[in-house]
Amino acid sequence: MASYRICLLPGDGIGPEVIAQAERVLKALPLQAEFETADIGFGAYQKHGSPLPDNTLETIRRCDATLFGAVTTPPNIPGYFSPIIRLRKTFDLYANLRPCRSFPHASSRPGINMLIVRENTEDLYMGVERVEDDGNRAISEMIITRRGSERIIRKAFDLARQTGRKKVTVVHKANVLRETCGLFRKVALEIAPQYADIQMEEMLVDTCAMELVRAPQQFEVIVTTNLFGDILSDEASMLVGGLGVACSGNIGESAAIFEPVHGSAPKLVGTHQANPLATFLSLAMLLDYLGEELAEGLRHSVTNAFENNQLTEDLGGTLKTEQVTDYILRGLR
Ligand SMILES: NC(=O)c1ccc[n+]([C@@H]2O[C@H](COP(=O)([O-])OP(=O)(O)OC[C@H]3O[C@@H](n4cnc5c(N)ncnc54)[C@H](O)[C@@H]3O)[C@@H](O)[C@H]2O)c1
Repeated sequence: MASYRICLLPGDGIGPEVIAQAERVLKALPLQAEFETADIGFGAYQKHGSPLPDNTLETIRRCDATLFGAVTTPPNIPGYFSPIIRLRKTFDLYANLRPCRSFPHASSRPGINMLIVRENTEDLYMGVERVEDDGNRAISEMIITRRGSERIIRKAFDLARQTGRKKVTVVHKANVLRETCGLFRKVALEIAPQYADIQMEEMLVDTCAMELVRAPQQFEVIVTTNLFGDILSDEASMLVGGLGVACSGNIGESAAIFEPVHGSAPKLVGTHQANPLATFLSLAMLLDYLGEELAEGLRHSVTNAFENNQLTEDLGGTLKTEQVTDYILRGLR
């Protein structure tokens, strides 16, 4: 059995609560793993003077994969930066994966099983912004490169193959953004013929936003640029239960960080109402990444929790955070 080193980054707010539940699950799995916990977020800033201390970066570097909880963004503090964005840059985590799958529950539309693959390092999110004309004209540069487009589009096609999906939808706005989205589209059209077993279709982002609501079952893999992917993946998560179950992975060549999509939910801290399922599903993605088949068992157990309404209040259940984990652990045995 392979032996792993897994980094846990609890962070702020409900982050430590959901990561503690994930640790219970990890320890119950037949997995040879050592865990290393490191500080991140506002708590880390208060303790060490940085939201992303060097020691945390070193821990991530020496681990096989990382599970991250959530962080709180403090009100304006000079010099404070988003540790998540910094992590994406530092480890070049270019692929943001957001699976979106139906659950047997009233909060979820049926028949959905799509994977959204979002480019995670380029586009308007590179932060190349300036103001002119005494602050009356604001400019942000949308940067798309061939290298960035190529690697994310290949990733989408490879993942389609690996997960037995047959279609990749390339989402852009090349009819208006002729150079930036035009380059992304051009690269997709070059790469697609190399994957003869996978169908490629194109869709404009506005159409895609509509189609996600109208007939989400049509999508298998969506690949798109950073900003569009950010918006579409949040939209898609609401089709299958919302923040309580939205999981994600940030993947690079040398590191991978998995995280529930939700934030630190300050109001829930200490109430035992934080839904741990999004973290469990992120953990399942981490296990997939390590090549561990245990991921399927964990996902199955989460599906059972929906089927039997063993859920927290946000999904209409009555269980506390820890009781949901108890149920999941019974399912794993
Ligand atoms: N990845 C991250 O760490 C991340 C993401 C988004 C927001 N944030 C930060 O989190 C803080 C709170 O932001 P917000 O309120 O806009 O977003 P949030 O995701 O923390 O909460 C939004 C709503 O969803 C609920 N919610 C979130 N997670 C839940 C869970 N696991 N179970 C049940 N209900 C849950 C909250 O109670 C709230 O009503 C801010 O400081 C924000 O900057 C961090």
